[in-house]
Amino acid sequence: MKDGKFITMAFESSCDETSVAVLADGREVWANVISSQIDIFKQYGGVVPEIASRHHLENINRVVDQAMEEAKVTWKDIDLIGVTMGPGLVGALLMGVATAKAAAFAHDIPLVGVHHILGHISANYIEYPELKPPFMALVTSGGHTNIIDVEDYNRCRVLGATRDDAVGEAYDKVARVLGLGYPGGPKMDKLAKEGNPDAIPFKRVYLEKDSYDFSFSGLKTAVLNYLNTEKQAGREVNKADVAASFQQAVMDVIVDKSVGAVLERYGNDPAKSAGKKLVLAGGVASNTKLRAMLEDACAKKGIELFRPSPILCTDNAAMIGCSAYYKYKEFGADSMDMDAYPSLPLPDVE
Ligand code: KG4
Ligand code: ZN
Repeated sequence: MKDGKFITMAFESSCDETSVAVLADGREVWANVISSQIDIFKQYGGVVPEIASRHHLENINRVVDQAMEEAKVTWKDIDLIGVTMGPGLVGALLMGVATAKAAAFAHDIPLVGVHHILGHISANYIEYPELKPPFMALVTSGGHTNIIDVEDYNRCRVLGATRDDAVGEAYDKVARVLGLGYPGGPKMDKLAKEGNPDAIPFKRVYLEKDSYDFSFSGLKTAVLNYLNTEKQAGREVNKADVAASFQQAVMDVIVDKSVGAVLERYGNDPAKSAGKKLVLAGGVASNTKLRAMLEDACAKKGIELFRPSPILCTDNAAMIGCSAYYKYKEFGADSMDMDAYPSLPLPDVE
């Protein structure tokens, strides 16, 4: 405890960000240090798992020191340690889990393992101190694309998921073939602003009627085919038009499905109107087109839209600390046997 507040320290290392945060009473961020490896992976065009693990190992103690210094706390002040236990790259996850366990053991602090996606969703509790479940969440990142009915802090139901590429992954792959570099999402977002979203009629993939699942690999192939055809015909490609048309094809589907999910679940029943909220999470939630389209669509349908600021959309430990706090309040500490789980399912309710 410090200043009468419950202090959580959290670790996130599921992919290429080494992050440590300190939070008070679950939602107040005192430090959120993020050491990104993006510059290292630019040369490879993507994350190399072994290199990511090594960098986590090299960085993590320094990041812990910096977070404690910024938050002005000592180990005696920490009431809870939270750590991402999955899903993610197993070697990368293990670095965070091992460090968190060692700290919990050495300083006799309770330990809680957090699901990375619940962490992303929890970024919104930090951004919006009044926000409470239930609500619908759209989680779009480099590894995930999900529509999730969040019933409670620790319970949710996955309504839809990608059947192949995640949205961020599709952005990164298309960016690579356009020669934009890694990570491609933010670069595509910027370039698309200069292009015509109607220039190339890429197919919108909705899958079966009423399905909340997604598929983006066909769209990615369509972009590749378009580029090859244009090259063979000796025509010059307008990259901004390709980026804008690809983005529009992705966002049309995501916006329709996520707004549709809110309306179906919470829309017409006044008893459920408290949940008529759409909460964004994950790296792609920073996308300016997605934000603009959802603002518009939600305003028309009377849905309240929540979106974390970009620093809380990307992988960070503050969101993990917030989720750890709510898990600990309901279930108490995890045992020291807790491990890293590369394909951990969400805590689904039936
Ligand atoms: O949540 P995150 O930081 O890491 C994962 O858990 O995957 O998400 C990273 C992903 C990358 O694929 C990146 O290209 C994408 O989010 N991204 C974006 C934007 N900013 C980040 N995609 C589209 N538009 C953006 N503005
Ligand atoms: Zn993530």
